[in-house]
This record gives sequence, structure tokens and C-alpha cells, in this order.
Amino acid sequence: MAPTVILIGFMGSGKTAVGQCLAKRLGWEFIDTDHEVVNSMGMSIPEAFRRRGEAIFRGAEEDVVSRILDKAAVLRGGMVVSLGGGAVTSRGIRERLKREPLVVLLDEDVDTAFRRAGGGSRPLAAELESFRSLYEERTGLYREAAGMIIDTRGKKVEAVAQEAEAMVRERIGEEGTAKA
Ligand code: S3P
Repeated sequence: MAPTVILIGFMGSGKTAVGQCLAKRLGWEFIDTDHEVVNSMGMSIPEAFRRRGEAIFRGAEEDVVSRILDKAAVLRGGMVVSLGGGAVTSRGIRERLKREPLVVLLDEDVDTAFRRAGGGSRPLAAELESFRSLYEERTGLYREAAGMIIDTRGKKVEAVAQEAEAMVRERIGEEGTAKA
């Protein structure tokens, strides 16, 4: 089976930027699940929350994540997948992540995360107080789902990707198959 690295973490933790950089370093494909959810719903994320509601968005996200991980498993080469920050709130995704050996948590502090993600188009990042509550609520879910944790505080994208690459190479060993 081809190895799949799955990046999880809160909004603004750098999953997409690190994922792109990591995929380039490994010479693997990169997929961002938010991007695929937008394609499958045929509308932007703010529009999906507004017109269909968060529960429908989560259902679409769960389908997309499952489809991507199934596809990644049968690819010839490896894949890096960055998950939307709220993906771990879906039970089905959490169950799926338990079977994945290369789940990496990007652990960023909430103020930095808000500086990056807040106040823009993300429906759940409109203001700091609710952003902070959500961050605290989800901390346990991320830690439970992760097989590896990278403390990203004060680090540049390239440095985080380098750290992730070293961890992944260690885990997949010589033959390129992930050890469970
Ligand atoms: C969300 C995170 C976003 C996106 C949506 C909901 C969340 O993804 O899926 O706005 O609930 O944390 P990023 O983590 O890529 O910003």
C-alpha cells in the first residue's frame, strides 16, 4: 500500500502550506480536502455553511475524506492529505484516522492561528473568543487522532515540513510502506 501522510490541526495551523511543501520534498501528490469539498458541493465554504448548514458540510467532508483516503491507498506513489480543521469532529473520520499510521498534528498556539485564519472568509473564525473556545474544545480530539505531533510554534513552513519529512521517513522505513 502506498503511504499517506494526513495533516490535521486547527484552522491557521499551516496544514495547507506545510502539506504542499512536504509533498514537494517527498515527491508525492498533495490534496487539500477543503478544496475537494468545495468541488463536490459546488459552492464555497462560507456559502455551504450559509445555505446548507454546518451538518451538511460535515457530511460532505466525511464523504470526501473517505474517498480521498481510499484512493490514496491504491496509488503507486505516496500522498499528502491536509484535512479541514473540523474534520476530526466527525465520528466517521475519527474512526478512519485510527487505522491510518501517518497522522501528523500541527500544534500551533491559538493567537498565531487566529492571526492567520481569523476575520476572513472562514465561517468559524469570525472572532477570537469563539475561535478560542473551539480550539480548546477540539484539543483532545486532535491529540487522540494523531500518531505524531509537531510543535509548530515560532517555526517557518519549511522547517515544519522538514521535521514532518524526517518523522515520516523514519516511520515508512526502507520499502516505503508505513508501519502501523
Ligand atoms: C473548519 C476549518 C476550515 C474549513 C471550514 C471549517 C473548522 O479548514 O474546513 O471553514 O471547522 O475548523 P482549514 O482548517 O483548512 O482552515
